[in-house]
Amino acid sequence: MDIPARDALLDGLDLRASGKGLGAEIIGVDLRRIDDAAFEALHLAWLDHLVLLVRNQTLNDAELIAFSRRFGDLDLAPIQETGRRFVEGLPELYVVSNVMEKGEPIGSLGHGEAVWHTDMSYVEVPPKASLLFALETPAAGGNTSFVNMYAVYDALPDMLKRRIASLRVKHDGTYNSGGFVRQGVTPSEDPREAPGALHPLVYTHPETGRAALYLGRRRNAYIDGLELAESEALLNQLWDHVDQSGFVWTHAWRPGDLVIWDNRCTMHRRDAFDAATRRILHRTQVKGERRPA
Ligand SMILES: [Fe+2]
Repeated sequence: MDIPARDALLDGLDLRASGKGLGAEIIGVDLRRIDDAAFEALHLAWLDHLVLLVRNQTLNDAELIAFSRRFGDLDLAPIQETGRRFVEGLPELYVVSNVMEKGEPIGSLGHGEAVWHTDMSYVEVPPKASLLFALETPAAGGNTSFVNMYAVYDALPDMLKRRIASLRVKHDGTYNSGGFVRQGVTPSEDPREAPGALHPLVYTHPETGRAALYLGRRRNAYIDGLELAESEALLNQLWDHVDQSGFVWTHAWRPGDLVIWDNRCTMHRRDAFDAATRRILHRTQVKGERRPA
């Protein structure tokens, strides 16, 4: 698309950037009925800002799935911590919740902290996008933070960029971000033995062409081909750059919020919240592209 056409499309959006290095709110749209031009504008804004927030939406599950499909085919949700799929008849839908019904959690991740991660990067072809819709939220706590991994990569010292240019990292498939062991996995604390998928540490985004640092999650990560101690030291060094980066935007949820993130160039984490309060969010994921070996 040429620049004037792109600018004209984006002019139709009421967009407020967070000012934090990623994240923008789109104001005044009803996602159940946006036309193709408005969707294209939203998609361009999403590639530019990495994470979009759209408030005051009234999406039921079918409408959330239908809107998500505008980004591409959807992945099936991972199996819940109890071994069940979440919602009968809607296998695309994953429930993030601490709420218990009949002694069983209705969703995953509990009420604790969820550590920095990229969704499902322990599979060969991770989802390119996640859409998370808030149904019930506590008055305080449970905020979700996002970090811009293009910016983290750009800010690395040149020597470190050169060192990681052709390295691959194993993204662990043992634990989810809440620290729960995934279904069917026997936990191992040796990163070399743990199940997972190998991905290049430097990922070139197929739509923007920009390079991002691709870490996935810290626990059980392993840089292929290195001695374990060397892998740990290099990973610690890279994660220090994430922790010290200023490129973080934190979202405080309200019911009716939809947040859409680019799972290829961001990571996210969640704060803990009071276990006595209720938090229910529904998530879909859009299939990604196969990554270069
Ligand atoms: Fe996540």
